[in-house]
Amino acid sequence: MADHLTHRGLAALAKQYGGLLHLRLGRLHVFSVSTPEYAREVLQAQDGAFSNRPATIAVVYLTYGRSDISFAHNGAFWRQMRKLCVTKLFSRQRAETWLAVHEGYGGLARAVAAASARGTTAGQAVNLGELIFNLTVSVIFRAAFSARDEEGLDEFIAILRVFSRQFEASHIGYFFPWLSWMHRRGFNRRLQSARGALDRFIDKIIHDHMTRRRNPADADADLTALAFFAEGNPPGAVDLDETVRLTRDNIKAMIMDMLFGGPETVASTTEWAMAEMMRNPDNLVRFQRELADVVGLDRTVNESDLKELPFLRCVVKETLRMHPPIPLLLHETAKDCVVLGYSAPKGSRVVVNVWAINRGLQSWKEPDAFRPARFMAGGEGEAVALDLKGSCIEFLPFGSGRRSCPARGLAQHAVEFAVAQLAHGFSWELPGGMKPAELDMADVAGLTAPRATRLCVVPTPRLTCAL
Ligand code: HEM
Repeated sequence: MADHLTHRGLAALAKQYGGLLHLRLGRLHVFSVSTPEYAREVLQAQDGAFSNRPATIAVVYLTYGRSDISFAHNGAFWRQMRKLCVTKLFSRQRAETWLAVHEGYGGLARAVAAASARGTTAGQAVNLGELIFNLTVSVIFRAAFSARDEEGLDEFIAILRVFSRQFEASHIGYFFPWLSWMHRRGFNRRLQSARGALDRFIDKIIHDHMTRRRNPADADADLTALAFFAEGNPPGAVDLDETVRLTRDNIKAMIMDMLFGGPETVASTTEWAMAEMMRNPDNLVRFQRELADVVGLDRTVNESDLKELPFLRCVVKETLRMHPPIPLLLHETAKDCVVLGYSAPKGSRVVVNVWAINRGLQSWKEPDAFRPARFMAGGEGEAVALDLKGSCIEFLPFGSGRRSCPARGLAQHAVEFAVAQLAHGFSWELPGGMKPAELDMADVAGLTAPRATRLCVVPTPRLTCAL
């Protein structure tokens, strides 16, 4: 049964039974949505009624009782937290966030060159997947904490890994809440230790920030969220507006949201983009030609080049279409609803299968083929009108409606910059004479869908300048 409750399993069931599946699991109603017509109802037409979040016992515990944005139910608290994120943390106005992307990914090609130089023989493969992931954690870490150095980063990566495992382990609980007892003993202990480690880590960071803020010269070093944390207040609370008060737990949970959701999604999209181009080398050739024409081979890519690289945007869009990092959107009904004639009682779990919708035969030509040119303007691509803003219901990597990704702009920019650095800096080959068709393209089924095996590839420097 568990195999059916993955993005691929639910897509296969939808092929057999239709775009809206109703699964009755004990007292729980689960609706799986796999076509644009039903997704439009759930995410757009009746958005408000479908915008609560289901959470397993483990998730409630790890998010300090839904004190974060991702798992808070739709309501005044969630609205305020989200506004804070969109207008402060991810906004173009917050220089630290974008500087972290600029500095972190600006060094990606150098990091590849360094990893390659560490190899014992020339032409040895680097573990590009691992490298991208670690660098992305560092980018999001710097963005979140305005960190100038990476003190504590390794400890943080270790905590993140444990957290990810606990989240993933509780995945099945979205469908079978009563199965939580299966893990209970050791599981609860592991949960407590995971949250305890995060508590200590973030408490220390909060403490350091509070201390630093006393020095006026260091005023811009604060995490924006912490600026709301009035000095002298901890462990109390501060007003977000008249009705909502922000506590230390909220700040921790919000940091956790960013650091749990951010690196995994951005890194896996970047890794998939490179993997798809290795598997479909004509696309890499075309993209590298674009880079050579626009940027030239005598310098590295700047962020200001990105808008001049239309094929890059198509590569990223096509990657997000085929490999949405969050393949299943998890929503819950806030009241009794009717979806195109079918009743969904209050508290039903609603799973929108973005992976299936992004590959739907009714919307996409050759949906399983990696064909970035489908998004190209100038009469070339048939999907040129589809953007990532969430209004195109057949193309939903960032979701749609009020629960859609608040960091879309930042995430898209980060992936584009990373992919451009990699493709411009090096010629790439598969290791050991592997043919493109032999590259493993399996994904992992869970809350996110990263590659099952890390991408290992052989880089050869391509530019005439230093990286
Ligand atoms: C390529 C990268 C990314 C993709 C494809 C992506 C996609 C998504 C999706 C599909 C959702 C859920 C929508 C729904 O349930 O209807 C979501 C929610 C969210 N994302 Fe992203 N995301 C990405 C990167 C990021 C980053 C970098 C951050 C923060 C650093 C972030 C923060 C969030 C938050 C806080 C939510 C919860 C919003 C809410 O429940 O109101 N995401 N994202």
